[in-house]
This record gives sequence, structure tokens and C-alpha cells, in this order.
Amino acid sequence: MIKVITYGTYDLLHYGHIRLLERAKALGDYLIVGVTSDDYDKTRGKINNQQSLMERVAAVKATGLADEIIAEEYEGQKIDDIRRYGVDIFAIGSDWTGKFDYLNEFCKVIYLPRTEGISSSELRAEKRKLTVGTVGSLGSINKFIKEVGFVNGVEYRECGSELEGVDAVYVATHPEKHYEDISHALELGKHVISESPIVLRRDRFDELTKLAKEKGLILSEAIKTAYSTAYSRLLVVAKSGRIGDIVSVDATCTSLASRIDEPDTDLGIIQNSICAWGPTAMLPVFQLLGTEYREKHIVSRIVDAENRFDGFTKIDFIYDHAVASVKVAKGAKSEGELIITGTKGYIYVPAPWWITDYFEVRFENPAENKRHFYQLDGDGIRYEIVAFAKSIESGRHDFYIPEKVSRAIVGVIEDYYGGQITLI
Ligand code: CTP
Repeated sequence: MIKVITYGTYDLLHYGHIRLLERAKALGDYLIVGVTSDDYDKTRGKINNQQSLMERVAAVKATGLADEIIAEEYEGQKIDDIRRYGVDIFAIGSDWTGKFDYLNEFCKVIYLPRTEGISSSELRAEKRKLTVGTVGSLGSINKFIKEVGFVNGVEYRECGSELEGVDAVYVATHPEKHYEDISHALELGKHVISESPIVLRRDRFDELTKLAKEKGLILSEAIKTAYSTAYSRLLVVAKSGRIGDIVSVDATCTSLASRIDEPDTDLGIIQNSICAWGPTAMLPVFQLLGTEYREKHIVSRIVDAENRFDGFTKIDFIYDHAVASVKVAKGAKSEGELIITGTKGYIYVPAPWWITDYFEVRFENPAENKRHFYQLDGDGIRYEIVAFAKSIESGRHDFYIPEKVSRAIVGVIEDYYGGQITLI
């Protein structure tokens, strides 16, 4: 029996794909189709496929041409598959001519002429693009605009104060201005993705989320860490019971500024430690332990009382069965690690954990330790844009940062400004 294998993304399956599968099948007796997973596609720059892996697999299955369908998940998998399945022929479209010659060592490589005049990219482009404008300072906006360039179906457009010509805006002003900027955008019917914290008071958060819902708009929070693959896998592992019950979450984020009035490198605005780092550091706490803590205690070292500028803040949370602590600082330096303590083991994410592509699950017996590696491109910002675009399309708030997590973050920051702190 001659076994043939071919790979592809097969987004919005079209007749170019079907013709390729037919010819690949005709080369032998058994056809294996490798459908590229979303994560692997991201690493190759094919971001924002319109269909999920499941949908794409179902479409390939429906052609009736594949005898077996597998997911392609990592670099170097082709060689493994060819050996594992005893493949005789590797077939692929002529757009890849020469690229897979290295597989000749393992089986026969055949490039089949590509069907002219059709491609998934063109089909995706026919759908109307989402246009996004920006409000705020230059530093972050330039980075955002650059990252938009990596996402299919989303386009940056310059806009004035009336936000004309855009469907959505990215708000990267000072947190004290967010309320004004976000309500303005929502009133004008624009979807919003805002830097964190979304606002500084719970009542304003409730008001804005209500307004967004009434107008059928998405209001999303831009904490890039939430959208990285490693971070989302880490949440799954932590919640799966692998490390037992979670008893403590400890997150530290620091970036030592030479002067307190030095703008943040990322955002280009001057922010205190709690606004600059608090949302990121609190994210794993609220995502893993929930937002219903019993007690919290904020301790700050204030370096500029007039502007309520904290050089260092530590927040302790007490839950019914667990504790958490976050340390944030722009006026102190520490190890930026994340540790999730469980009754059977712990998860360790080395510094800087918030731009993470790697974490370790560790146990009493080091032989059981497991390392997890993932690809992280553009610090997570481009995945954040993909998630934002998808939630606009589906009309549903994305699941990366649940609304109640955003609200809990706002709540802690409100209490900080409300003076519920111990000074050191
Ligand atoms: N293919 C083809 N003719 C086309 C389009 C694709 O023969 N008009 C082949 C590709 O060469 C590949 C397989 O179909 O072997 C899967 O291609 P894929 O990359 O999923 O589809 P494209 O339409 O090329 O996607 P994109 O536009 O995103 O590159």
C-alpha cells in the first residue's frame, strides 16, 4: 500500500484545496492530511484564521478524500509523522517548491501545481476589514500599529477626535483619562480595547460596561499577558489538579525607573506602580482563585504623595482556602517571577513571567518535573488584537479576561486611591 501525506491550514476550504487533495490521493492508496493547528500557524505568521482547528478538520473530513486526519502542532513534526506512519510520498502545492526537499531523505517529495486564482487569504480579504484607530500617546500606539500589521482582517486607520472612519479604538491614555476617552468612543458607537486599568472606580466600570452592552459594543482590556499561549496553558495546568489544590499565588512585577517622572517604556506615559503593574500582577490571582477574596491588605511605599505615586506596593489577599500576594514596583527591584503553590507541586514561571513563553511544573521528586515551551510573538499583543477582532465578530466578550476579573482589578485600584492602604 502506498501512503501519501500532505499538510495545510485549509481555512475556508475552497476548490484549490479540494483539487490538491484529489491529486494527492491519486498518487497512492491511503491519504493522511495534516491540518495545521492554530498555535503552530501563529508561529508562521498565519494569524487570525477564520475557522478553528476543529472546523477546518471537519471541512477536510467532509471532502471524503482523507483516510486519516491529524493535527500539525510543532516544527519538525513532518519527519516524525513520515516515520511513524510509514509514509511513501509527501505531496504539497507548488507554492512550496523546494521548501521540503529535505524530506527526500525520508520519502518521495512531490510538488503539485497550485490552482490559479484562489486562496484562503483572498477569501479572508473579501470579508470586510475591521478598522482600528488609536487614542493616546505615541509609545504604545506605534507598537500597537505594528502588531495590527500581523493580523489578517484588521487594519489601522488614523482618526481624529471624532473617531471618524474606524470601527474600533485602542485607548492608551493615562488611566485617569480612560473614563472620558472610553465613554466618548462608546457614545460614538466604537468598540474599545483599553490599556489597564480600564478605569479607577467600580461605579464607572459598571457604567461603561452597561453602556457598551446597550450599544452592542465590545469593551476589552489590553493585558497582553492574558493572551499569550504559555499563560493560558499555565492556567489550564494549574486548574487541572496536576499540582493539587492551589494554596498560594505569588506574582511580582517590577521595572526600576531612574526617576519617578520617567514615562513607562511601553506606554510612554507616567504611571505609578499600581497602575503600571497592578493589573498584570493581579491577573493570575483573580483567574486562579476567583474574585471573591475574604480580605485584602495593601501596603505601599509612597514616593510622591501629591501624585499618589507608589514606588512599591504589596497586596495580600486572603481567600477561604488560599492566599495570594502581588508585589509591584517602579521604585524598587525584585525577581519578576510567578509561583503557584499547590498541595502536590508548584508551577514556576521565571522572570519576566508576564512575557512568558515558558513555565515549569515542579514536584518533590525532580524526575517528575515538566517544562512547557510555547511560541510568543509580539509580546502577546497580536494575539490580543486577534481576540478583540474575534469578539467583535461574534458579538461576545472574549474569555481571556472575564469582565469580573477586570472589575476586581478596578476595585483594588479604587481602594488604593481611596486610601485603604498601610504606608511604610
Ligand atoms: N493549494 C492549491 N491551490 C490553491 C490554494 C492552495 O493547490 N489555490 C494547496 C497548497 O499548496 C497546500 C494546500 O492546498 O498544499 C493547503 O493550502 P493552504 O495554505 O491551507 O491554503 P491557501 O489557500 O494557500 O492559504 P493562504 O492563502 O492562507 O496561503
